[in-house]
Amino acid sequence: MEIFVTGATGAIGRPLTEALAAAGHEVVAGTRHPEAYRGPGRAVQFDLDAHGRADPGEAARTADAAFYLVHALDQRSFAQVDRDRAERFADLWGADRPVVYLGGLGEPGLGSPHLRSRHEVGLILRRRCETIELRAAMVLGAESISFQLLARLGRLASFSPLPVLAPQASRARTQPIGQADLVAALVHALELEPGSYDVGGPEVIRYADLMERAARAQGRTLKVLPVVPLDPEWIGPATSVAAGVDPWATSALFAGMGEETVVRPDHRVPGPELATTSIDDALAAALAGP
Ligand SMILES: NC(=O)c1ccc[n+]([C@@H]2O[C@H](COP(=O)([O-])OP(=O)(O)OC[C@H]3O[C@@H](n4cnc5c(N)ncnc54)[C@H](OP(=O)(O)O)[C@@H]3O)[C@@H](O)[C@H]2O)c1
Repeated sequence: MEIFVTGATGAIGRPLTEALAAAGHEVVAGTRHPEAYRGPGRAVQFDLDAHGRADPGEAARTADAAFYLVHALDQRSFAQVDRDRAERFADLWGADRPVVYLGGLGEPGLGSPHLRSRHEVGLILRRRCETIELRAAMVLGAESISFQLLARLGRLASFSPLPVLAPQASRARTQPIGQADLVAALVHALELEPGSYDVGGPEVIRYADLMERAARAQGRTLKVLPVVPLDPEWIGPATSVAAGVDPWATSALFAGMGEETVVRPDHRVPGPELATTSIDDALAAALAGP
């Protein structure tokens, strides 16, 4: 199949384009900087913010399927931007060819603006396109911003000789997934009926424990006590400086920390379980680099 991959240069898009090419698909990579594209297939100019000029041309019009991997987490007004981008993509793509969208786990009606926005984009795409939505929590992959934040904070905090006091929100449970498993699930999603499916790794874990595991994967020891009655959003800016990660993205990710992001049993992808890599193995692979 010829497959149009938006966000092809991103943390997920990069390994996905490799996997699609390895599976025999022809990749058309949508990027704002096609001249810098080094992945498989060919790149076309694609900018969903370039009002009236977002059309990536013939290549995307004739593709058999698409992946939608774009987000605006690095902007303060990300929800509005992502809403507009999803509508613009639906205008371009139309209703009769499949699009696989990678969204976020969590129950509907969440308090986190970031997760609400991920769900809203899924709703827009499902309403207007033949959409297969895969919902995931943190992807443990070298270039994933949420993983980088986790790994750097785990390492930094481990320099403390005492247990580290963290917001109570870090007691919330999540179900991270290894990058290789997630990419395999995305390729497999091309065979699914339109709908919304949850994907996650084999372990459910509290954020506080995940941070300890991230430190251990880097050869460090860390004890995190999730006892501070403070909204994690307040420590986002300071944390982003300490970890060297984009401040808007850090704030948005921290604001979602109190939400449970766990696979709903009745929304699992049908068929055999593909995501079997343990958290420790996925952390080790991510720390080894892209
Ligand atoms: N990483 C995770 O842990 C995780 C977990 C669950 C869900 N997701 C979802 O997976 C998707 C991909 O995440 P990611 O981590 O790969 O993101 P990422 O690394 O930040 O990549 C974002 C991509 O968006 C493209 N992009 C940005 N602005 C654009 C615009 N105006 N027009 C067209 N393309 C634009 C960029 O391409 P160019 O710069 O080349 O134009 C880039 O390739 C997102 O929807 C995210 O919410 C990610």
